[in-house]
Amino acid sequence: MSELPSIITDNPTVLGIESSCDETAVAIVRGDRTIIAERIASQEAEHAPYGGVVPEIAARAHAERLAPMLEAVMADADMTLEDVDAIAATAGPGLIGGVMVGLVSAKALAMASDKPLIAVNHLEGHALSPRLADPDLGFPYLLLLVSGGHCQILLVEGVGEYRRLATTIDDALGEAFDKTAKILGLGYPGGPKVEKLALTGDASAVSLPRPLKGSKEPHFSFAGLKSAVLRAYDSGEHRSEDIAASFQQAAIDCLIDRLSHALKDLETPPSLVVAGGVAANTAIRSALEAFANKHHMRFAAPPLALCTDNAAMIAWAGCERMPLEQSDPLDFKARPRWPLDPEAEKARGAGVKA
Ligand code: KG4
Ligand code: ZN
Repeated sequence: MSELPSIITDNPTVLGIESSCDETAVAIVRGDRTIIAERIASQEAEHAPYGGVVPEIAARAHAERLAPMLEAVMADADMTLEDVDAIAATAGPGLIGGVMVGLVSAKALAMASDKPLIAVNHLEGHALSPRLADPDLGFPYLLLLVSGGHCQILLVEGVGEYRRLATTIDDALGEAFDKTAKILGLGYPGGPKVEKLALTGDASAVSLPRPLKGSKEPHFSFAGLKSAVLRAYDSGEHRSEDIAASFQQAAIDCLIDRLSHALKDLETPPSLVVAGGVAANTAIRSALEAFANKHHMRFAAPPLALCTDNAAMIAWAGCERMPLEQSDPLDFKARPRWPLDPEAEKARGAGVKA
């Protein structure tokens, strides 16, 4: 492999590509936090008949949409590849077919333009996204990363310095929202639908468990909560809106309990930050903000569009890495599993994602 192209470290302009799940997205972001252009196409309609993301359909849809979207974003920005300082793409974790579409495209663009390639960990994109929106958010911060595939508490000490304090031993929280939506017949994607229905329900109407609440181990568990939702529904004794509200409250209680546990081991409570798709949930954001206020922690949550999957966060992760002179070779391998903190101890349970 030839030498890596040189890196512009001062206020770089980065083209970012995201294709790890069911959103095809392209963005151009500058180091001064300007989102110069951005497009995103959801595949909701393609996956809705199946009640969840079908990997093969997702990969095909990314392959069809990505090239025209790249062209459109460059046109929106009135830029050519010459005006871009690096090409960043999600290289994992995620559905391998989709990741490969985005990563291979980024490699081709990097090779054609002789610009550096930045292979971004999708979780790093989420983890740094709050700093794109909030210039005053410095390191370190305690990050609650809650998405469709992950539920983790991380101590973010700097770019590339992530210490995982907790993870889920079974389902991710977004997954639990999606399954609850499926049980209640709300359709896909479920999180926003459960949140909306919960607004009209009574959160104390259905008695649901808070798995691992009070446990000495730091982790999350949501499988038992999901099964309890199914039992409550099957009993025929409860209104759907009450089940949705009670489920959401149980989830919030678990998040707060596990964050309290994580705080115990930290000398100075840093800022509290939430990111990932589930961070779009207003009830969860409010509960976390109240928790942060109680503990005299600064609270930050990205705007809703930066919570769910997007390419601006991937381009931004590229901007963050440029000053560290970190780029990747053109033979970088897509990684369907890619932990942010490889040193983290394995949590018990087999279903740990990433
Ligand atoms: O980060 P994301 O877009 O994709 C992954 O990397 O997984 O997160 C998607 C997840 C889905 O499970 C979706 O149901 C959930 O985020 N989600 C929500 C809300 N909006 C999206 N969950 C609860 N409330 C919401 N408003
Ligand atoms: Zn995500």
